[in-house]
Amino acid sequence: MSLNKSGREQWGSKLGFILAAAGSAIGLGNIWRYPYLAGENGGAAFIFVYVLCVFAIGIPVLIAEILIGRTTQKNPVGAFKALSSSRYWPVIGGMGVFAGFIILSFYSVVAGWSLGYVVEAVKGNFYLYTAPDSAGQHFNDLIGNIGWSVGYLSLFMILTMLVVYFGVQKGIERGSKIMMPMLFGLIIIVTIQGLSLEGSSAGLSYLFNPDFSKINGKVVLAALGQAFFSLSLGMGAMLTYGSYLKKKDNIPSSAVWVAVLDTSIAIIAGIAIFTVVFATNQSPDVGPSLIFRTLPAVLTQIPGGYIFSILFFIALVLAALTSTVSLLEVVTAYFVDEKKWKRKKAVLIFGFVCLLLGIPSALSFNVFANSKIFGLNFFGLTEFIASNLLLPIGGFFIAIFVGWVWNKAIVRAGVIEGAEDSFGKYPWLLITWEIVLKYIAPILIFIVLLSSIGII
Ligand code: PHE
Repeated sequence: MSLNKSGREQWGSKLGFILAAAGSAIGLGNIWRYPYLAGENGGAAFIFVYVLCVFAIGIPVLIAEILIGRTTQKNPVGAFKALSSSRYWPVIGGMGVFAGFIILSFYSVVAGWSLGYVVEAVKGNFYLYTAPDSAGQHFNDLIGNIGWSVGYLSLFMILTMLVVYFGVQKGIERGSKIMMPMLFGLIIIVTIQGLSLEGSSAGLSYLFNPDFSKINGKVVLAALGQAFFSLSLGMGAMLTYGSYLKKKDNIPSSAVWVAVLDTSIAIIAGIAIFTVVFATNQSPDVGPSLIFRTLPAVLTQIPGGYIFSILFFIALVLAALTSTVSLLEVVTAYFVDEKKWKRKKAVLIFGFVCLLLGIPSALSFNVFANSKIFGLNFFGLTEFIASNLLLPIGGFFIAIFVGWVWNKAIVRAGVIEGAEDSFGKYPWLLITWEIVLKYIAPILIFIVLLSSIGII
């Protein structure tokens, strides 16, 4: 990172931003959450709605969020304060900070499981669980063990705190430049292996032959929530990363890059997992444990599988880390900028509070397994509130703000700056973007939210 005129850090290049933003976007959302949601929501029909949500709503809102960040060079709350004199808009930024906090708590539980699986892989335990059923049993035993799940949750949270504490740019940027391509390569190897299994074609048809009668309000809400979750949208992470951008960088093309990379990894991960699920006659709707049951089975069948399973879970942990860092960074940036806290203090306090909040999520799979609120355990409830409510609501207001509240001439000049060859040259692109932000995104999000709480 270099510094701007006022001494604030900036990305070294457009590529640096794309990698960091893609690092935030690509994570457990693609490899853990997307396949299990697709499995619970009917496969191809879900994927169809998901991809539609990413392109029709996700990318336009992503452009809007980055633009707010780049224009103001501030954290989510500070950004709305700078752009509006109303007391209410900064509340939207505050809601984002809160959402980041909640996501970090349950996300770190799953990241902790992944970290624990690195150790399982090193121990060679995968070879004992090559059939998904016994792998599932093994997984349940592990997450049922309080020491194991809370221990790895704590270890992972400490890892996140260390990175944010010592600097995102050097550690994470450098690390993700190596690990992201490695993860990509490994997923492709696993996918090829999955495809080579007998009976894998049933998995492909599950993923790519949509049964449109399966689409209902619940499926659309899950797909929309997942689009926001996977693109790290609606809570200010992309706004914060955008605040380190230089004026001359092209926002629309960066946004499209991030979305395309993110969606490709999700789809490829889906192929890797569902080919195994169908080749081994498993049911696709087992929920959050899905990848932990299927991956060991496929990884151990690859020649040299032992080393691949270790590498795969290391890469998964690092992909998760580039995402949790962006979550903790939003909370930290807020307290450092707005409350004038020392970075150190913000990281230690909020990392610790997040860890405490993560514990009931980790215990949702053992001690609290039977305590349900609205039919969900604590983990499921925090996941639902953050991803399916807070992120879409955040996205709704970001679209309204950029579409209706912010001065139109400034918005246009802003988004064209750096994008003279696309938004500047083709007015229809600019106008389509504005129409999506003004009407399509808010109306769709609103309808989806209403239908999910049963009003329509
Ligand atoms: N996008 C990340 C993932 O898919 C999760 C995330 C959500 C990160 C929101 C930051 C903000 O894993």
